[in-house]
Amino acid sequence: MYIPEEKIAQILNTSDIVDIISQNVILKKSGSNFFGLCPFHSEKTPSFSVNINKQIYYCFGCGAGGNVLNFLKRYHGITFPEAAKMLARKHNITIETKEIDPAKRKQLKLKESLFRLNKTTMEYYYSQLKNSNSGKIAARYLKQRKISDDIINEFHLGFSHDSWDSVVKEFKKLKVSEGVAAQSGLVLERKQNNGYYDRFRNRIMFPIFDINMQVAGFGGRVMDDAMPKYMNSPETLVYSKSRILYGLHAAKQFCRQEDFVYIVEGYFDFLSLYQHGIKNCVASLGTALTHEHIRILKGYASKMILVFDSDAAGISAAKRSIKIFMREGVDIKILVLPEKSDPDSYVVEHGQKAFNALALKAKTIMQFLLQVSIDTHGSSVEGRIKILNDMKPYLITIQDTALRSLYIKELAETLNIDENAVLEKVREQYLHTQESISKPYLFDGTKDEVRLDSDRREEQMISMVLNFPEIIDKINKTGVLEYFYSKKLKFIGKKIIGIDSDKKAFITNVMATMENSEDQQLIASLSMDDSFMDQDIQQTALSLINRIIRVRKKEENTLTSKIISAEKGCDSELMELLKEKQAEIQQLQ
Ligand code: CTP
Ligand code: MN
Repeated sequence: MYIPEEKIAQILNTSDIVDIISQNVILKKSGSNFFGLCPFHSEKTPSFSVNINKQIYYCFGCGAGGNVLNFLKRYHGITFPEAAKMLARKHNITIETKEIDPAKRKQLKLKESLFRLNKTTMEYYYSQLKNSNSGKIAARYLKQRKISDDIINEFHLGFSHDSWDSVVKEFKKLKVSEGVAAQSGLVLERKQNNGYYDRFRNRIMFPIFDINMQVAGFGGRVMDDAMPKYMNSPETLVYSKSRILYGLHAAKQFCRQEDFVYIVEGYFDFLSLYQHGIKNCVASLGTALTHEHIRILKGYASKMILVFDSDAAGISAAKRSIKIFMREGVDIKILVLPEKSDPDSYVVEHGQKAFNALALKAKTIMQFLLQVSIDTHGSSVEGRIKILNDMKPYLITIQDTALRSLYIKELAETLNIDENAVLEKVREQYLHTQESISKPYLFDGTKDEVRLDSDRREEQMISMVLNFPEIIDKINKTGVLEYFYSKKLKFIGKKIIGIDSDKKAFITNVMATMENSEDQQLIASLSMDDSFMDQDIQQTALSLINRIIRVRKKEENTLTSKIISAEKGCDSELMELLKEKQAEIQQLQ
Protein backbone atom coordinates (compact mmCIF):
# COMPACT_ATOMS: atom_id res chain seq x y z
CA MET A 1 0.00 0.00 0.00
CA TYR A 2 1.29 3.44 -0.89
CA ILE A 3 0.11 6.59 0.85
CA PRO A 4 0.73 9.80 -1.08
CA GLU A 5 3.24 12.21 0.45
CA GLU A 6 0.68 15.01 0.75
CA LYS A 7 -1.47 12.74 2.84
CA ILE A 8 1.39 11.92 5.15
CA ALA A 9 2.11 15.61 5.50
CA GLN A 10 -1.55 16.27 6.30
CA ILE A 11 -1.57 13.53 8.92
CA LEU A 12 1.61 14.85 10.48
CA ASN A 13 0.41 18.42 10.47
CA THR A 14 -2.85 17.52 12.16
CA SER A 15 -1.40 15.44 14.95
CA ASP A 16 0.65 16.59 17.88
CA ILE A 17 3.57 14.41 18.86
CA VAL A 18 3.43 15.28 22.56
CA ASP A 19 -0.22 14.38 22.60
CA ILE A 20 0.37 11.01 20.97
CA ILE A 21 3.49 10.01 22.86
CA SER A 22 2.08 10.97 26.25
CA GLN A 23 -0.51 8.27 25.79
CA ASN A 24 2.36 5.81 26.24
CA VAL A 25 5.09 7.68 28.09
CA ILE A 26 4.79 9.99 31.08
CA LEU A 27 6.23 13.29 29.91
CA LYS A 28 7.34 16.27 31.97
CA LYS A 29 8.04 19.68 30.52
CA SER A 30 11.52 21.08 30.92
CA GLY A 31 12.51 24.13 28.86
CA SER A 32 11.34 23.73 25.31
CA ASN A 33 11.35 19.93 25.56
CA PHE A 34 9.34 17.28 27.28
CA PHE A 35 11.24 14.49 29.01
CA GLY A 36 10.36 10.97 30.04
CA LEU A 37 11.74 7.47 30.48
CA CYS A 38 12.67 6.02 27.12
CA PRO A 39 10.35 3.17 26.05
CA PHE A 40 13.07 1.81 23.75
CA HIS A 41 15.77 1.03 26.27
CA SER A 42 15.81 0.52 30.01
CA GLU A 43 16.83 3.56 32.03
CA LYS A 44 16.28 5.12 35.42
CA THR A 45 16.71 8.78 34.61
CA PRO A 46 14.79 10.30 31.71
CA SER A 47 16.79 10.91 28.57
CA PHE A 48 13.89 10.54 26.16
CA SER A 49 12.91 13.96 24.84
CA VAL A 50 10.04 15.23 22.76
CA ASN A 51 10.25 18.59 21.06
CA ILE A 52 6.92 20.17 20.38
CA ASN A 53 8.15 22.81 17.92
CA LYS A 54 10.12 20.40 15.83
CA GLN A 55 7.55 17.63 16.31
CA ILE A 56 10.22 15.03 16.85
CA TYR A 57 11.35 12.73 19.63
CA TYR A 58 14.92 11.83 20.40
CA CYS A 59 16.49 9.71 23.10
CA PHE A 60 19.87 11.02 24.26
CA GLY A 61 20.50 7.63 25.82
CA CYS A 62 19.91 5.21 22.99
CA GLY A 63 19.73 7.45 19.95
CA ALA A 64 16.22 6.39 18.94
CA GLY A 65 14.49 9.26 17.24
CA GLY A 66 12.12 10.36 14.54
CA ASN A 67 8.69 11.80 13.99
CA VAL A 68 5.39 10.67 15.41
CA LEU A 69 4.88 8.01 12.72
CA ASN A 70 8.28 6.58 13.40
CA PHE A 71 7.43 6.50 17.10
CA LEU A 72 4.18 4.59 16.55
CA LYS A 73 5.89 2.22 14.18
CA ARG A 74 8.62 1.41 16.66
CA TYR A 75 6.44 1.43 19.75
CA HIS A 76 3.74 -0.84 18.39
CA GLY A 77 5.96 -2.81 16.04
CA ILE A 78 3.78 -1.93 13.06
CA THR A 79 4.62 -0.84 9.52
CA PHE A 80 4.77 2.73 8.31
CA PRO A 81 1.44 2.60 6.41
CA GLU A 82 -0.20 1.01 9.43
CA ALA A 83 1.07 3.81 11.65
CA ALA A 84 -0.16 6.38 9.14
CA LYS A 85 -3.57 4.76 9.00
CA MET A 86 -3.74 4.65 12.78
CA LEU A 87 -3.17 8.39 13.02
CA ALA A 88 -5.45 9.13 10.09
CA ARG A 89 -8.30 7.29 11.78
CA LYS A 90 -7.73 9.28 14.94
CA HIS A 91 -8.03 12.56 13.08
CA ASN A 92 -10.76 11.46 10.70
CA ILE A 93 -8.59 11.84 7.67
CA THR A 94 -9.51 9.54 4.81
CA ILE A 95 -6.76 7.93 2.84
CA GLU A 96 -7.30 7.12 -0.76
CA THR A 97 -4.26 5.34 -2.13
CA LYS A 98 -2.56 6.75 -5.16
CA GLU A 99 -0.54 5.36 -8.02
CA ILE A 100 3.10 5.44 -7.09
CA ASP A 101 5.46 6.95 -9.68
CA PRO A 102 6.65 4.34 -12.17
CA ALA A 103 10.39 4.51 -11.43
CA LYS A 104 9.78 4.15 -7.73
CA ARG A 105 7.33 1.34 -8.26
CA LYS A 106 9.84 -0.49 -10.39
CA GLN A 107 12.50 -0.12 -7.74
CA LEU A 108 10.14 -1.34 -5.00
CA LYS A 109 9.11 -4.29 -7.13
CA LEU A 110 12.72 -5.20 -7.78
CA LYS A 111 13.52 -5.03 -4.08
CA GLU A 112 10.59 -7.27 -3.30
CA SER A 113 11.67 -9.73 -5.96
CA LEU A 114 15.21 -9.79 -4.61
CA PHE A 115 14.02 -10.46 -1.08
CA ARG A 116 11.75 -13.20 -2.36
CA LEU A 117 14.50 -14.79 -4.45
CA ASN A 118 16.92 -14.66 -1.52
CA LYS A 119 14.36 -16.36 0.68
CA THR A 120 13.71 -19.09 -1.88
CA THR A 121 17.43 -19.62 -2.31
CA MET A 122 17.91 -19.78 1.45
CA GLU A 123 15.29 -22.54 1.59
CA TYR A 124 17.06 -24.29 -1.26
CA TYR A 125 20.48 -24.19 0.46
CA TYR A 126 18.84 -25.30 3.71
CA SER A 127 17.13 -28.28 2.09
CA GLN A 128 20.39 -29.30 0.42
CA LEU A 129 22.08 -29.31 3.82
CA LYS A 130 19.29 -31.33 5.37
CA ASN A 131 18.40 -33.73 2.58
CA SER A 132 21.00 -34.06 -0.14
CA ASN A 133 23.74 -36.62 -0.17
CA SER A 134 26.63 -34.20 -0.47
CA GLY A 135 24.98 -32.08 2.20
CA LYS A 136 26.10 -34.71 4.67
CA ILE A 137 29.67 -33.47 4.49
CA ALA A 138 28.46 -30.01 5.39
CA ALA A 139 26.35 -31.34 8.25
CA ARG A 140 29.38 -33.22 9.53
CA TYR A 141 31.48 -30.05 9.31
CA LEU A 142 28.93 -28.11 11.36
CA LYS A 143 28.81 -30.88 13.91
CA GLN A 144 32.56 -30.86 14.20
CA ARG A 145 32.33 -27.09 14.79
CA LYS A 146 29.85 -27.85 17.57
CA ILE A 147 26.94 -26.02 15.98
CA SER A 148 23.66 -27.50 17.24
CA ASP A 149 20.68 -28.44 15.09
CA ASP A 150 18.64 -25.78 16.86
CA ILE A 151 21.07 -23.12 15.72
CA ILE A 152 21.19 -24.53 12.18
CA ASN A 153 17.41 -24.32 12.09
CA GLU A 154 17.00 -20.94 13.75
CA PHE A 155 19.59 -19.28 11.52
CA HIS A 156 18.69 -21.39 8.54
CA LEU A 157 22.22 -22.42 7.66
CA GLY A 158 22.58 -24.27 4.38
CA PHE A 159 24.87 -25.87 1.86
CA SER A 160 25.79 -24.90 -1.70
CA HIS A 161 26.79 -27.75 -4.00
CA ASP A 162 30.18 -28.17 -5.59
CA SER A 163 28.63 -27.26 -8.91
CA TRP A 164 28.61 -24.36 -11.37
CA ASP A 165 24.91 -24.47 -12.08
CA SER A 166 22.85 -25.85 -9.19
CA VAL A 167 21.40 -22.46 -8.35
CA VAL A 168 21.26 -21.47 -12.02
CA LYS A 169 19.10 -24.53 -12.67
CA GLU A 170 16.89 -23.76 -9.70
CA PHE A 171 16.36 -20.27 -11.05
CA LYS A 172 15.44 -21.67 -14.47
CA LYS A 173 12.97 -24.03 -12.88
CA LEU A 174 11.41 -21.14 -10.98
CA LYS A 175 11.42 -18.96 -14.12
CA VAL A 176 13.38 -16.22 -12.37
CA SER A 177 13.94 -13.32 -14.76
CA GLU A 178 17.52 -12.73 -15.86
CA GLY A 179 17.59 -9.20 -14.52
CA VAL A 180 16.53 -10.22 -11.04
CA ALA A 181 18.89 -13.20 -11.02
CA ALA A 182 21.86 -11.04 -12.01
CA GLN A 183 21.03 -8.31 -9.47
CA SER A 184 20.74 -10.82 -6.64
CA GLY A 185 24.48 -11.49 -6.73
CA LEU A 186 23.74 -15.20 -6.35
CA VAL A 187 24.81 -15.95 -9.89
CA LEU A 188 27.48 -14.34 -12.06
CA GLU A 189 27.55 -13.72 -15.77
CA ARG A 190 29.89 -15.95 -17.78
CA LYS A 191 32.69 -14.13 -19.57
CA GLN A 192 31.60 -15.12 -23.08
CA ASN A 193 28.16 -13.84 -22.31
CA ASN A 194 26.56 -17.24 -22.54
CA GLY A 195 24.55 -17.50 -19.40
CA TYR A 196 25.33 -17.52 -15.72
CA TYR A 197 27.13 -19.60 -13.09
CA ASP A 198 26.71 -20.04 -9.31
CA ARG A 199 28.61 -17.63 -7.09
CA PHE A 200 28.64 -19.90 -4.03
CA ARG A 201 30.01 -23.39 -4.56
CA ASN A 202 30.75 -26.12 -2.04
CA ARG A 203 30.25 -23.89 0.97
CA ILE A 204 28.37 -23.74 4.24
CA MET A 205 25.81 -21.00 3.63
CA PHE A 206 24.86 -18.32 6.14
CA PRO A 207 21.81 -16.26 5.18
CA ILE A 208 22.19 -12.67 6.37
CA PHE A 209 18.93 -11.22 7.65
CA ASP A 210 18.09 -7.56 7.89
CA ILE A 211 16.35 -6.10 10.90
CA ASN A 212 12.94 -6.91 9.43
CA MET A 213 13.88 -10.58 9.14
CA GLN A 214 14.19 -10.41 5.38
CA VAL A 215 17.08 -12.24 3.72
CA ALA A 216 19.38 -9.50 2.43
CA GLY A 217 22.39 -11.57 1.37
CA PHE A 218 24.61 -14.56 2.10
CA GLY A 219 27.99 -15.55 3.36
CA GLY A 220 29.59 -18.88 2.52
CA ARG A 221 32.48 -20.73 4.13
CA VAL A 222 34.58 -23.47 2.61
CA MET A 223 34.87 -26.68 4.60
CA ASP A 224 38.62 -27.09 4.20
CA ASP A 225 41.62 -24.80 3.75
CA ALA A 226 40.61 -23.62 0.29
CA MET A 227 40.74 -19.90 -0.46
CA PRO A 228 38.97 -17.63 -0.04
CA LYS A 229 37.77 -18.94 3.32
CA TYR A 230 34.67 -16.77 3.23
CA MET A 231 32.74 -15.34 0.36
CA ASN A 232 29.92 -12.83 0.73
CA SER A 233 27.13 -11.43 -1.41
CA PRO A 234 28.13 -8.25 -3.22
CA GLU A 235 26.36 -4.99 -2.45
CA THR A 236 22.89 -5.17 -3.94
CA LEU A 237 19.70 -3.15 -3.79
CA VAL A 238 18.85 -4.98 -0.58
CA TYR A 239 22.29 -5.66 0.91
CA SER A 240 24.55 -2.94 2.20
CA LYS A 241 27.62 -3.95 4.19
CA SER A 242 27.86 -0.67 6.01
CA ARG A 243 24.44 -1.13 7.57
CA ILE A 244 23.99 -4.82 8.20
CA LEU A 245 25.08 -6.58 11.36
CA TYR A 246 24.85 -10.34 11.34
CA GLY A 247 22.46 -11.71 13.94
CA LEU A 248 20.85 -8.44 14.99
CA HIS A 249 17.40 -9.61 13.86
CA ALA A 250 17.55 -12.36 16.50
CA ALA A 251 19.66 -10.59 19.10
CA LYS A 252 17.82 -7.28 19.24
CA GLN A 253 15.39 -8.20 22.00
CA PHE A 254 18.23 -9.54 24.15
CA CYS A 255 20.34 -6.45 23.54
CA ARG A 256 17.45 -4.34 24.75
CA GLN A 257 16.88 -6.50 27.81
CA GLU A 258 20.52 -6.38 28.85
CA ASP A 259 21.06 -2.86 27.53
CA PHE A 260 24.38 -4.07 26.21
CA VAL A 261 25.75 -5.86 23.20
CA TYR A 262 28.86 -7.84 22.31
CA ILE A 263 30.30 -7.03 18.91
CA VAL A 264 32.30 -9.89 17.42
CA GLU A 265 33.76 -10.39 13.97
CA GLY A 266 32.66 -13.68 12.53
CA TYR A 267 29.68 -15.86 11.72
CA PHE A 268 30.86 -18.69 13.95
CA ASP A 269 31.73 -16.29 16.75
CA PHE A 270 28.18 -15.04 16.76
CA LEU A 271 26.54 -18.45 16.44
CA SER A 272 28.63 -20.05 19.18
CA LEU A 273 28.00 -17.26 21.65
CA TYR A 274 24.29 -17.33 20.85
CA GLN A 275 24.20 -21.08 21.23
CA HIS A 276 25.86 -20.78 24.64
CA GLY A 277 23.18 -18.41 25.81
CA ILE A 278 25.07 -15.19 25.16
CA LYS A 279 22.38 -13.84 22.89
CA ASN A 280 23.05 -10.10 23.13
CA CYS A 281 25.59 -10.25 20.37
CA VAL A 282 26.13 -9.22 16.74
CA ALA A 283 28.86 -9.85 14.18
CA SER A 284 30.43 -7.20 11.98
CA LEU A 285 31.48 -9.84 9.42
CA GLY A 286 35.07 -8.76 9.34
CA THR A 287 34.36 -5.36 7.79
CA ALA A 288 35.26 -2.13 9.52
CA LEU A 289 32.49 -0.83 11.73
CA THR A 290 30.77 2.26 10.38
CA HIS A 291 28.90 5.18 11.94
CA GLU A 292 25.75 3.61 10.61
CA HIS A 293 26.43 0.33 12.39
CA ILE A 294 26.92 2.17 15.66
CA ARG A 295 23.85 4.33 15.21
CA ILE A 296 21.75 1.27 14.53
CA LEU A 297 23.13 -0.53 17.57
CA LYS A 298 22.54 2.50 19.76
CA GLY A 299 18.84 1.91 19.21
CA TYR A 300 19.13 -1.38 21.08
CA ALA A 301 21.79 -1.01 23.74
CA SER A 302 23.70 1.80 25.35
CA LYS A 303 26.71 -0.29 26.41
CA MET A 304 28.85 -2.20 23.96
CA ILE A 305 31.79 -4.57 24.24
CA LEU A 306 34.02 -5.04 21.23
CA VAL A 307 35.53 -8.49 21.28
CA PHE A 308 38.75 -9.02 19.35
CA ASP A 309 41.38 -11.67 18.84
CA SER A 310 44.70 -10.84 20.45
CA ASP A 311 46.71 -11.07 17.22
CA ALA A 312 48.09 -7.98 15.51
CA ALA A 313 45.16 -7.90 13.09
CA GLY A 314 42.70 -7.95 15.97
CA ILE A 315 44.48 -5.13 17.81
CA SER A 316 44.65 -2.93 14.75
CA ALA A 317 41.00 -3.61 13.93
CA ALA A 318 40.10 -2.56 17.48
CA LYS A 319 42.12 0.64 17.15
CA ARG A 320 40.40 1.47 13.88
CA SER A 321 36.96 1.12 15.42
CA ILE A 322 37.74 3.11 18.53
CA LYS A 323 37.61 6.58 17.04
CA ILE A 324 34.20 5.91 15.57
CA PHE A 325 32.91 4.88 18.95
CA MET A 326 34.44 7.88 20.69
CA ARG A 327 32.89 10.11 18.12
CA GLU A 328 29.44 8.59 18.63
CA GLY A 329 29.81 8.94 22.38
CA VAL A 330 29.07 5.30 23.09
CA ASP A 331 29.94 3.59 26.35
CA ILE A 332 32.28 1.04 24.88
CA LYS A 333 34.72 -1.47 26.33
CA ILE A 334 37.21 -3.66 24.59
CA LEU A 335 37.78 -7.29 25.32
CA VAL A 336 40.93 -8.79 23.92
CA LEU A 337 40.82 -12.56 24.14
CA PRO A 338 43.72 -14.70 25.33
CA GLU A 339 46.22 -15.61 22.67
CA LYS A 340 45.15 -17.98 19.90
CA SER A 341 41.46 -17.88 20.71
CA ASP A 342 38.50 -16.16 19.13
CA PRO A 343 35.03 -15.82 20.73
CA ASP A 344 33.91 -19.05 19.07
CA SER A 345 36.82 -21.20 20.19
CA TYR A 346 36.85 -19.61 23.63
CA VAL A 347 33.21 -20.21 24.45
CA VAL A 348 33.25 -23.70 22.94
CA GLU A 349 36.25 -24.61 25.05
CA HIS A 350 35.45 -22.82 28.32
CA GLY A 351 31.70 -22.22 28.28
CA GLN A 352 29.38 -19.33 28.98
CA LYS A 353 30.38 -18.61 32.58
CA ALA A 354 34.05 -18.29 31.73
CA PHE A 355 33.24 -15.99 28.83
CA ASN A 356 31.09 -13.75 31.00
CA ALA A 357 33.77 -13.69 33.67
CA LEU A 358 36.34 -12.69 31.08
CA ALA A 359 34.03 -9.96 29.80
CA LEU A 360 34.05 -8.36 33.24
CA LYS A 361 37.70 -7.67 32.61
CA ALA A 362 37.03 -5.79 29.40
CA LYS A 363 39.06 -2.59 29.26
CA THR A 364 37.90 0.97 28.78
CA ILE A 365 39.15 2.61 25.61
CA MET A 366 41.85 4.45 27.50
CA GLN A 367 42.99 1.37 29.38
CA PHE A 368 43.14 -0.55 26.13
CA LEU A 369 45.03 2.07 24.15
CA LEU A 370 47.37 2.62 27.04
CA GLN A 371 48.08 -1.07 27.35
CA VAL A 372 48.84 -1.33 23.64
CA SER A 373 51.08 1.72 23.86
CA ILE A 374 52.86 0.52 27.00
CA ASP A 375 53.46 -2.86 25.37
CA THR A 376 55.08 -1.04 22.48
CA HIS A 377 57.13 1.65 24.25
CA GLY A 378 57.83 0.36 27.76
CA SER A 379 57.62 2.57 30.85
CA SER A 380 60.94 4.40 30.80
CA VAL A 381 60.81 8.20 30.74
CA GLU A 382 61.18 8.28 26.96
CA GLY A 383 58.66 5.48 26.73
CA ARG A 384 56.11 7.42 28.71
CA ILE A 385 56.55 10.50 26.54
CA LYS A 386 55.97 8.37 23.48
CA ILE A 387 52.89 6.90 25.10
CA LEU A 388 51.54 10.36 25.76
CA ASN A 389 52.13 11.24 22.12
CA ASP A 390 50.28 8.12 21.02
CA MET A 391 47.30 9.02 23.13
CA LYS A 392 46.92 12.68 22.14
CA PRO A 393 45.08 12.15 18.87
CA TYR A 394 42.51 9.98 20.60
CA LEU A 395 41.97 12.47 23.39
CA ILE A 396 41.20 15.32 21.05
CA THR A 397 38.50 13.38 19.25
CA ILE A 398 36.40 13.21 22.42
CA GLN A 399 33.68 15.80 22.04
CA ASP A 400 32.38 15.69 25.57
CA THR A 401 34.67 17.93 27.60
CA ALA A 402 33.82 16.34 30.96
CA LEU A 403 34.59 12.90 29.59
CA ARG A 404 37.80 14.18 28.06
CA SER A 405 39.06 15.58 31.33
CA LEU A 406 38.29 12.28 33.04
CA TYR A 407 40.38 10.47 30.48
CA ILE A 408 43.17 12.98 30.82
CA LYS A 409 43.16 12.45 34.55
CA GLU A 410 43.29 8.68 34.12
CA LEU A 411 46.15 9.00 31.68
CA ALA A 412 48.11 11.36 33.92
CA GLU A 413 47.73 9.00 36.85
CA THR A 414 48.76 5.92 34.92
CA LEU A 415 51.81 7.60 33.43
CA ASN A 416 52.62 9.34 36.66
CA ILE A 417 52.87 12.66 34.82
CA ASP A 418 51.44 15.93 36.10
CA GLU A 419 47.86 16.37 34.88
CA ASN A 420 48.50 19.94 33.75
CA ALA A 421 51.41 18.83 31.63
CA VAL A 422 49.18 16.30 29.93
CA LEU A 423 46.52 18.92 29.40
CA GLU A 424 49.06 21.26 27.86
CA LYS A 425 50.21 18.54 25.45
CA VAL A 426 46.66 17.79 24.43
CA ARG A 427 45.96 21.45 23.82
CA GLU A 428 49.05 21.67 21.63
CA GLN A 429 47.84 18.72 19.60
CA TYR A 430 44.42 20.29 19.29
CA LEU A 431 45.81 23.55 17.89
CA HIS A 432 48.06 21.59 15.61
CA THR A 433 45.15 19.67 14.09
CA GLN A 434 43.03 22.78 13.79
CA GLU A 435 45.83 24.14 11.61
CA SER A 436 46.27 20.96 9.69
CA ILE A 437 42.61 20.45 8.98
CA SER A 438 43.09 22.24 5.72
CA LYS A 439 46.17 20.15 4.96
CA PRO A 440 45.42 17.08 2.93
CA TYR A 441 46.00 13.70 4.47
CA LEU A 442 48.60 11.64 2.72
CA PHE A 443 50.05 8.41 3.99
CA ASP A 444 50.75 9.90 7.37
CA GLY A 445 48.07 8.18 9.32
CA THR A 446 46.07 11.35 9.91
CA LYS A 447 43.41 10.40 7.42
CA ASP A 448 40.94 9.39 10.09
CA GLU A 449 41.15 12.67 11.95
CA VAL A 450 40.77 14.75 8.83
CA ARG A 451 37.79 12.69 7.74
CA LEU A 452 36.28 12.98 11.19
CA ASP A 453 36.59 16.73 10.99
CA SER A 454 34.97 16.85 7.59
CA ASP A 455 32.16 14.62 8.84
CA ARG A 456 31.63 16.94 11.75
CA ARG A 457 31.44 20.02 9.54
CA GLU A 458 29.05 18.34 7.17
CA GLU A 459 26.81 17.24 10.02
CA GLN A 460 26.87 20.79 11.37
CA MET A 461 25.79 22.07 7.98
CA ILE A 462 22.82 19.71 7.94
CA SER A 463 21.88 20.54 11.55
CA MET A 464 21.96 24.18 10.63
CA VAL A 465 19.72 23.91 7.61
CA LEU A 466 17.27 21.75 9.55
CA ASN A 467 16.94 24.41 12.20
CA PHE A 468 17.25 27.39 9.87
CA PRO A 469 15.77 26.56 6.47
CA GLU A 470 16.34 30.17 5.48
CA ILE A 471 19.92 29.23 4.60
CA ILE A 472 18.75 26.88 1.82
CA ASP A 473 19.35 29.68 -0.64
CA LYS A 474 23.01 29.93 0.33
CA ILE A 475 23.43 26.18 0.07
CA ASN A 476 21.92 26.22 -3.39
CA LYS A 477 23.95 29.17 -4.61
CA THR A 478 27.30 27.86 -3.40
CA GLY A 479 26.63 24.25 -4.35
CA VAL A 480 28.34 23.24 -1.13
CA LEU A 481 26.70 19.82 -1.04
CA GLU A 482 28.78 18.82 -4.04
CA TYR A 483 31.86 19.22 -1.84
CA PHE A 484 30.63 16.82 0.85
CA TYR A 485 32.71 13.73 1.52
CA SER A 486 29.84 11.85 3.15
CA LYS A 487 27.54 10.38 0.54
CA LYS A 488 24.82 9.90 3.11
CA LEU A 489 24.85 13.52 4.28
CA LYS A 490 25.00 14.73 0.70
CA PHE A 491 21.99 12.62 -0.18
CA ILE A 492 20.05 13.85 2.83
CA GLY A 493 21.14 17.42 2.18
CA LYS A 494 19.82 17.25 -1.36
CA LYS A 495 16.48 16.01 -0.16
CA ILE A 496 16.29 18.79 2.41
CA ILE A 497 16.97 21.62 0.00
CA GLY A 498 14.20 20.32 -2.24
CA ILE A 499 11.63 20.88 0.48
CA ASP A 500 9.48 23.94 0.85
CA SER A 501 11.07 25.96 3.61
CA ASP A 502 7.80 26.98 5.23
CA LYS A 503 9.48 27.19 8.58
CA LYS A 504 7.00 25.88 11.06
CA ALA A 505 6.62 22.34 9.85
CA PHE A 506 9.98 22.13 8.13
CA ILE A 507 11.53 19.31 10.12
CA THR A 508 8.24 17.44 9.97
CA ASN A 509 8.25 17.74 6.22
CA VAL A 510 11.87 16.69 5.96
CA MET A 511 11.18 13.68 8.13
CA ALA A 512 8.25 12.66 5.98
CA THR A 513 10.45 12.36 2.91
CA MET A 514 12.98 10.05 4.57
CA GLU A 515 12.27 6.50 3.62
CA ASN A 516 14.03 4.45 6.23
CA SER A 517 14.06 4.78 9.96
CA GLU A 518 17.84 5.11 10.22
CA ASP A 519 17.70 8.22 8.06
CA GLN A 520 14.89 9.54 10.22
CA GLN A 521 16.94 8.81 13.28
CA LEU A 522 19.88 10.70 11.81
CA ILE A 523 17.63 13.67 11.03
CA ALA A 524 16.22 13.61 14.55
CA SER A 525 19.65 13.54 16.10
CA LEU A 526 20.94 16.32 13.85
CA SER A 527 17.90 18.51 14.49
CA MET A 528 18.55 18.39 18.21
CA ASP A 529 21.79 20.32 17.81
CA ASP A 530 20.88 23.86 18.83
CA SER A 531 24.42 25.03 19.46
CA PHE A 532 24.38 27.82 16.89
CA MET A 533 21.04 29.26 18.04
CA ASP A 534 22.42 32.54 19.29
CA GLN A 535 24.64 33.33 16.36
CA ASP A 536 24.14 35.40 13.24
CA ILE A 537 22.96 32.43 11.27
CA GLN A 538 23.59 33.70 7.75
CA GLN A 539 27.12 34.63 8.68
CA THR A 540 27.82 31.37 10.48
CA ALA A 541 26.37 29.38 7.60
CA LEU A 542 28.53 31.22 5.10
CA SER A 543 31.75 30.62 6.97
CA LEU A 544 30.94 26.94 7.41
CA ILE A 545 30.14 26.63 3.71
CA ASN A 546 33.40 28.32 2.78
CA ARG A 547 35.35 26.08 5.07
CA ILE A 548 33.86 22.91 3.59
CA ILE A 549 34.56 24.04 0.04
CA ARG A 550 38.06 25.28 0.82
CA VAL A 551 39.17 22.07 2.50
CA ARG A 552 37.92 19.92 -0.33
CA LYS A 553 39.43 22.06 -3.09
CA LYS A 554 42.73 22.29 -1.34
CA GLU A 555 42.95 18.55 -0.94
CA GLU A 556 42.34 18.02 -4.61
CA ASN A 557 44.78 20.74 -5.70
CA THR A 558 47.52 19.42 -3.50
CA LEU A 559 47.02 15.95 -4.87
CA THR A 560 47.20 17.14 -8.43
CA SER A 561 50.41 19.06 -7.83
CA LYS A 562 51.93 16.10 -6.02
CA ILE A 563 51.08 13.89 -8.95
CA ILE A 564 52.75 16.30 -11.32
CA SER A 565 55.94 16.46 -9.29
CA ALA A 566 55.98 12.69 -8.83
CA GLU A 567 55.72 12.38 -12.59
CA LYS A 568 58.62 14.78 -13.02
CA GLY A 569 60.69 12.89 -10.49
CA CYS A 570 59.77 9.64 -12.16
CA ASP A 571 58.59 8.26 -8.83
CA SER A 572 56.19 5.85 -10.39
CA GLU A 573 55.24 4.09 -7.19
CA LEU A 574 54.27 7.30 -5.48
CA MET A 575 52.43 8.35 -8.61
CA GLU A 576 50.34 5.21 -8.55
CA LEU A 577 49.48 5.73 -4.92
CA LEU A 578 48.53 9.32 -5.52
CA LYS A 579 46.36 8.43 -8.46
CA GLU A 580 44.60 5.78 -6.45
CA LYS A 581 43.98 8.35 -3.76
CA GLN A 582 42.65 10.79 -6.31
CA ALA A 583 40.33 8.18 -7.76
CA GLU A 584 39.14 7.42 -4.26
CA ILE A 585 38.35 11.05 -3.64
CA GLN A 586 36.60 11.46 -6.95
CA GLN A 587 34.58 8.38 -6.26
CA LEU A 588 33.38 9.94 -3.06
CA GLN A 589 31.71 12.74 -4.95
N1 CTP B 1 35.75 -12.73 6.46
C1 CTP B 1 35.38 -12.54 5.15
N2 CTP B 1 36.21 -12.95 4.13
C2 CTP B 1 37.39 -13.57 4.40
C3 CTP B 1 37.79 -13.76 5.73
C4 CTP B 1 36.94 -13.33 6.75
O1 CTP B 1 34.33 -12.01 4.88
N3 CTP B 1 38.16 -13.98 3.40
C5 CTP B 1 34.84 -12.29 7.54
C6 CTP B 1 33.87 -13.38 7.91
O2 CTP B 1 32.64 -12.79 8.24
C7 CTP B 1 34.53 -14.00 9.11
C8 CTP B 1 35.16 -12.81 9.79
O3 CTP B 1 35.56 -12.00 8.71
O4 CTP B 1 33.59 -14.69 9.92
C9 CTP B 1 36.30 -13.14 10.67
O5 CTP B 1 37.33 -13.77 9.94
P1 CTP B 1 38.28 -14.86 10.58
O6 CTP B 1 38.66 -14.46 11.96
O7 CTP B 1 39.34 -15.17 9.58
O8 CTP B 1 37.38 -16.16 10.58
P2 CTP B 1 36.46 -16.82 11.69
O9 CTP B 1 35.20 -16.10 11.84
O10 CTP B 1 37.25 -17.14 12.91
O11 CTP B 1 36.10 -18.14 10.91
P3 CTP B 1 36.44 -19.61 11.25
O12 CTP B 1 36.28 -19.75 12.72
O13 CTP B 1 35.42 -20.35 10.46
O14 CTP B 1 37.82 -19.88 10.78
MN1 MN C 1 37.01 -18.70 14.30
